[in-house]
Amino acid sequence: MSLLITNIKQLLQIRDSEVLKVSGKDMKVLPTINDAFLYMEEGRIVAFGSMENCNGFNPDKTIDATGKIVLPTWCDSHTHIVYAGNRSQEFVDRINGLSYTEIANRGGGILNSAKMLQNIDEDKLYHESIARVKQVMQLGTGAIEIKSGYGLTVEAELKMLRVIKRIKETFPIKVKSTFLGAHAIPEDYRNNKEGYIDLIINDMLPIIDKEQLADYIDVFCEKGYFNLEDTERILKAGKRYGLIPKIHVNQFNTFDGVALGVKHKALSVDHLEELSQEDIDALKGSITMPVALPSCSFFLSIPYTPARRIMEAGLPLALATDYNPGSTPSGNMNFVLSAACIKMKMTPEEAINACTINGAYAMGVSKDYGSIAVGKKANVMLTKSIPNYNYLPYAFGENNIETVIINGKTTA
Ligand code: NIG
Ligand code: FE
Repeated sequence: MSLLITNIKQLLQIRDSEVLKVSGKDMKVLPTINDAFLYMEEGRIVAFGSMENCNGFNPDKTIDATGKIVLPTWCDSHTHIVYAGNRSQEFVDRINGLSYTEIANRGGGILNSAKMLQNIDEDKLYHESIARVKQVMQLGTGAIEIKSGYGLTVEAELKMLRVIKRIKETFPIKVKSTFLGAHAIPEDYRNNKEGYIDLIINDMLPIIDKEQLADYIDVFCEKGYFNLEDTERILKAGKRYGLIPKIHVNQFNTFDGVALGVKHKALSVDHLEELSQEDIDALKGSITMPVALPSCSFFLSIPYTPARRIMEAGLPLALATDYNPGSTPSGNMNFVLSAACIKMKMTPEEAINACTINGAYAMGVSKDYGSIAVGKKANVMLTKSIPNYNYLPYAFGENNIETVIINGKTTA
């Protein structure tokens, strides 16, 4: 199967295939070709360039992209898209004055989602979850990381991870799986956190390894959840099974969790709504990608990750949705793009880099995804007819993604 896209108004994010992330000032640059073509064969990008050089192809299918922009699909490196039910009551409780932390302390929050997840059967969970996966694919997501962490028992964590595995096997988009058993301390272990960590390490991890259910290990490193010592114990245990760390850190407090992530060669440290100079210094020269989740800041009315400080320090930055029932019931990367520009003062170029190549890096797939490069996977999308790429974040709340191509094939 071969596909040729012609007359592309602007072809965005063209890079050498060796570029796996962009940092600091380089994030201001979004390499673009005007009046371009893109040719794909057997699910890979084979050639691209100016229309004047578009000859010698004999494609099975051609799409005329006159007036439209083509760019790589979004790489959403942080989601909890597999969940049961919803938490709309907590949304109303927050409007009426309760904080996220107060709701969690009353047994709501993550524990509320865990109750619903423990009571749903695997097949129903799969079907509820894939409705969301289909929705985000239509919005342009072509690679997604999905976490467990609403199970909090051996059985329910495995149920979540098996559903993620099934999504991996049944959907054409790239899926990476993260074990987040350490998302909250379950009710039964309220006064026995150590016992729950033992359960994660001694009971959950060996089965996850045996069934090859996860690529990464995550911990909610936060006051009232898992402290630095707990986080280190869990990361070390995961690493013994080959799971690479990716941690939730600095959502509400900063206390050296970023440095801990860097020390354990975390692929990413995510949230960072609070960020100290020490955290920034720890990230310098590391392989760890900072990840901001502006839809979470929007939904919870908490600070936005200080993107400018991060980039001005010469660091890279990725953007992701955090799609989950509690803090971000939205998997729309187009909204993330707008929120990053509007609230975090990222330029459209910086934000598009953060949603594509840097997002791909944060989920370990930037060799194959996140840019237009010869040999990379043909996961690209066409916008509607729009004036220029600035219009994508500018027209917030509007869906300007018209056609999504995954592995060289248009999706319904
Ligand atoms: O990334 N911060 C921890 N976990 C999720 C939200 C969990 C929830 O409220 O269900 C997050 O925001
Ligand atoms: Fe999260």
